[in-house]
Amino acid sequence: MKKYLLLTILLHSYIYASQVDGKNVFETYCWGCHHQTAMAFGPPFNEIASKRTKAEIEAYIASPKSMYKSFGYKRTVMTQFNLNDKERDSIAEYILSYKGK
Ligand code: HEC
Repeated sequence: MKKYLLLTILLHSYIYASQVDGKNVFETYCWGCHHQTAMAFGPPFNEIASKRTKAEIEAYIASPKSMYKSFGYKRTVMTQFNLNDKERDSIAEYILSYKGK
């Protein structure tokens, strides 16, 4: 029982930490052009979440220049960032957490 409780706490802090990371990445790199649920310079996260998979989102972030055509854009003005795997993973999760919102 004690072990179970500890595991639950650990799991919760892990989930919490990964959300915080995604939010940090968002505030550091993306906020100037994307908002969570409102159209900004770029599309809102709830719209992205409703039509893309996690792999597609990560691929776009890694290289807008090689992805924009398959995403249906005529050109891309999005900045290319060199995020590490964990940052890219957590921002993709953060975007997907706005699905249906
Ligand atoms: C300079 C402004 C700018 C910044 C900064 C920016 N974006 Fe974008 N983003 C755009 C624009 C504009 C588009 C629409 C297509 C294009 O121009 O590439 C876009 C498109 C996207 C798409 C694809 C949208 C679709 O159709 O599904 C994703 C995913 C995305 N951005 C994620 C991010 C993330 C994550 C960050 C931060 C790490 C970020 N963007 C930072 C402007 C920006």
